[in-house]
Amino acid sequence: MAEASQAQWEPKIIGFLCNWCSYAGADLCGVSRYQYPTNVRAVRVMCSTRISPHLVLDILKAGADGVLLGGCHIGDCHYISGNYYTEKRVRLMKRLLEESGVEPERLRLEWVSASEGEKFSKIVTDFTEQVRKLGPSKVKKDEKLRSRVAAADDASETFRLKALVGRELNLVNKGNVYNNKLDPAELDRIIDSATEEEFERSLILELSMSKPRSVKELGEIMEVPTDKVLRHIVALRQKNMIAMEHPEGFTPTYKTIVIGGEQ
Ligand code: FES
Repeated sequence: MAEASQAQWEPKIIGFLCNWCSYAGADLCGVSRYQYPTNVRAVRVMCSTRISPHLVLDILKAGADGVLLGGCHIGDCHYISGNYYTEKRVRLMKRLLEESGVEPERLRLEWVSASEGEKFSKIVTDFTEQVRKLGPSKVKKDEKLRSRVAAADDASETFRLKALVGRELNLVNKGNVYNNKLDPAELDRIIDSATEEEFERSLILELSMSKPRSVKELGEIMEVPTDKVLRHIVALRQKNMIAMEHPEGFTPTYKTIVIGGEQ
């Protein structure tokens, strides 16, 4: 079948709605006969916090044009603080999308209660139009973009980012092991810089998986200064994640170490 032309194209959006509020709001929207576009495929989840960055990035890799997350209003989550973590994770996801070159506007988080049927219809209409304006996502077909999204995915699974986002609530409200409470803005800055670093390291590993690459080559592909690439390589070598290969002339090259054998 011929590919749908841009004029015929309709955004494909996956919506994850929490069982207790947003899904009930969507239900009310239906029974109240509010109209909205049919582009969102709704998936019911028990809590918005069930949705990991890995799942969202995987869905975008599979060809979705947008992802909508719906949860209970802050303070109303049936699992007490689930939606607080969702909010923090969405911030991380948007930051990773930005790093990988995908428009962060393809992801939206909204709070919809069980009594807000009309609000649900407005959100779906508005988000569908927003994604329509962005056009079809290129992630599935653009090789370069796919490898950047894969790197974002790997970065989201690193212990450092998971720990920072997962402990944010405690670090701000209760303090660290020295009983120092962190300023939320300061913690955001720490998370932003860790996200950039983990993304770049994951991208180095992704790019050096199939062939050894020099620091200069990596810097050019990633558009990152070579001294920064070199610092990442040193850190990755210390963790035994990348190895030096046969030098090209006098230039060393590096290849990702794959646990369990040759790639
Ligand atoms: S139960 Fe709705 S966001 Fe947690």
